[in-house]
Amino acid sequence: MTPAKSTEFKNPRAKYNFQGRTCSIAGVGSYVPAKILTNSDLEKMVETSDEWITTRTGIKERRIAAPDEFTSDMAAAAAQRAMANAGVTADQLDLIIVATITPDMPFPSTACLVQRKIGARKAAAFDLEAACSGFIYALEIAQQFIMSRTYDTVLVVGAEKLSSITDWKDRNTCVLFGDGAGAAVLRSRQNSHGLLTAVMGADGEKADLLFMPGGGSRCPATPESVNARMHYLRMEGKETFKNAVQAMQTAAEEALRRCEIDIARIKCIIPHQANRRIIDAVAERIGANQSQLFVNLHKYGNTSAASVAIALDEAVASGRVERGDLILLLVFGAGLTWGAAVIEW
Ligand code: ACO
Repeated sequence: MTPAKSTEFKNPRAKYNFQGRTCSIAGVGSYVPAKILTNSDLEKMVETSDEWITTRTGIKERRIAAPDEFTSDMAAAAAQRAMANAGVTADQLDLIIVATITPDMPFPSTACLVQRKIGARKAAAFDLEAACSGFIYALEIAQQFIMSRTYDTVLVVGAEKLSSITDWKDRNTCVLFGDGAGAAVLRSRQNSHGLLTAVMGADGEKADLLFMPGGGSRCPATPESVNARMHYLRMEGKETFKNAVQAMQTAAEEALRRCEIDIARIKCIIPHQANRRIIDAVAERIGANQSQLFVNLHKYGNTSAASVAIALDEAVASGRVERGDLILLLVFGAGLTWGAAVIEW
């Protein structure tokens, strides 16, 4: 495959005169736990059916972490694979950003635990919380550090153990989520494009659509809060659905406008893997073909911040994208938050 010619799209960052410095994704990797929870397993836990879950969401199964397997373990495993694919060793990392809503504990950050597990002693480390949109937010922050010449090599991880905050008695939500991690190593690169643009958005007015009431400073854990099931996520499914479609459409259009390219020029669209119907509705609105979409939600369900990271790794590993292709990442999540990123692979 011939790399995309730079004349075929615009690099929106060129106007900032970074003296030819850009940022590329040097390698990606992912990890999912071994245990598979199928729709028929869920039929035994709540009043649901494989037929309902499949037709309403497209999900067939999801992965569930072992009781002694934590977000930092999955993040570290994905990170090791991304570093191997990038040809980067732990002591070359300048910064680690972990996007997650299910940290091992409120503090220290999961990024610090990952730093210890992979032995990246020179790296600074912090967590980022933007729910399902976290991976694009983290990519953009990593890119900013690289473009500003603060750092050369940044590890970005999206990792979740959503099974730990899922109410396994609530059929409205428990069929949707799964566990896993995806990672990318970003490096400075001269005179090339890499991560072309990232759109990020938020609307705190809609914070109540998707949230976890307990466990923070507003509602610390008490016997009452546990009995009231406040340490599980809650979601208004229908409203979230509508907002997801609208926000991802707007973000996609803005990202394509900035790069002055048509959707047809995108080789692979990797949307947040929450619901097949959301993906199809967004694709129709932005004029994308089914053949451009990368979908793996039938295997993993919604893994929040890990979702597009795992999908990107699988798209690359399966040969769906090759060096020079353009990729469009689309995300949406609690906050509300959303984002889109155009990457020249
Ligand atoms: N099995 C069987 N029936 C169910 C189930 C289930 N698992 N869940 C809900 N139902 C029932 C409901 O009770 C309702 O019954 P009723 O009509 O008697 O009241 C009926 O099915 C229809 O429910 P709806 O809410 O209308 O179903 P909808 O088509 O909206 O699908 C869904 C629900 C799948 C949750 C959808 O709204 C959705 O995907 N929403 C978006 C979720 C999302 O994308 N979240 C992303 C962010 S996640 C993050 O940031 C962590």
